[in-house]
Amino acid sequence: MIADLSPASSPAAIAKAAAVLRAGGLVAFPTETVYGLGADATDDRAVARIFAAKGRPAFNPLIVHVADFAAAERIVTFDTRARALAERFWPGALTLVLPRRGNASVSLLVSAGLDTVAVRVPANAVAQSLLRETGRPIAAPSANASGAISATTAAHVAESLAGRVDLILDDGPTAQGIESTVLGFADGVTLLRPGAVARDDIEAMAGPLRDPGAVTQGSPGRLASHYAPSKPLRLDAATVGGDEALLAFGTNVPPGAILTRNLSPSGDLVEAEANLFSMLRALDASDAARIAAMAVPTHGLGEAINDRLARAAVRP
Ligand code: TXA
Ligand code: MG
Repeated sequence: MIADLSPASSPAAIAKAAAVLRAGGLVAFPTETVYGLGADATDDRAVARIFAAKGRPAFNPLIVHVADFAAAERIVTFDTRARALAERFWPGALTLVLPRRGNASVSLLVSAGLDTVAVRVPANAVAQSLLRETGRPIAAPSANASGAISATTAAHVAESLAGRVDLILDDGPTAQGIESTVLGFADGVTLLRPGAVARDDIEAMAGPLRDPGAVTQGSPGRLASHYAPSKPLRLDAATVGGDEALLAFGTNVPPGAILTRNLSPSGDLVEAEANLFSMLRALDASDAARIAAMAVPTHGLGEAINDRLARAAVRP
């Protein structure tokens, strides 16, 4: 099948996408965070196709998306802390890594050899319609080549995965723009990946989050280099060279860059989060030799933004 940009809002587009998924195909679809590369999570061959399409290492497990809490409960078991967090933040940008039920119908490949499954109920209306129409849990990593910049528009998906996805549901730019926050529950509540739900909002109800050990770096897929543009990226830039493209933040923007994109002139971290990946792509496509990024505050959503920038700055 040939990749096809469909206006996602139409029931016909959703029905077609659900049929592709049920037949074992790959569908890229919007969520409130980034676009996902989806497959029927109950179909081993379909899930294997995700790893092949992304060039994703097989040791990196996948998030399983479900329509509601009841569907998540058929796959994993919730303790009281996890249940409270799900009630507070679902549907939304929070992923919970929980013990897999023995009778869960999802492919073992999504767990990549672990005895847990990462589950999330997305809030995006197209994602919700797709889950309900498909009637199956949908395994979906971010819809980009492994290690590359995540996709926040359908066009980014097409650039990243051309010819390797059967259908792309176009819903415009995603609302939040950075991936979900991932929590583990093995030994206290652990922040496996900072993301679109800020640490403070989770700690307000769950207490202090544990940081993953330096050895594991959180989730198995949290490689040092990730979200990487093809050009070198320099952090904490206060000045800029004439051969650089600048990822700016706030008002004190140094002049002289080949191309400048400002994450948020007013210093708003929500706006910065939404712009991060698309601006990195634009700067990466410029004639600059390098990308320089100004410092971004580390509080609130700044934790996830700084996490992505730090990994993007590590050469693969
Ligand atoms: O916002 C998001 O989370 C997007 C949208 C599409 O939902 N998805 C996403 O998926 O970012 P991906 O595959 O790019 O990142 C999933 C992260 C990886 O760091 C992976 O290692 C971790 O979640 N993860 C998945 N299953 C896990 C598990 N069983 N144990 C620990 N970490 C897990
Ligand atoms: Mg990803």
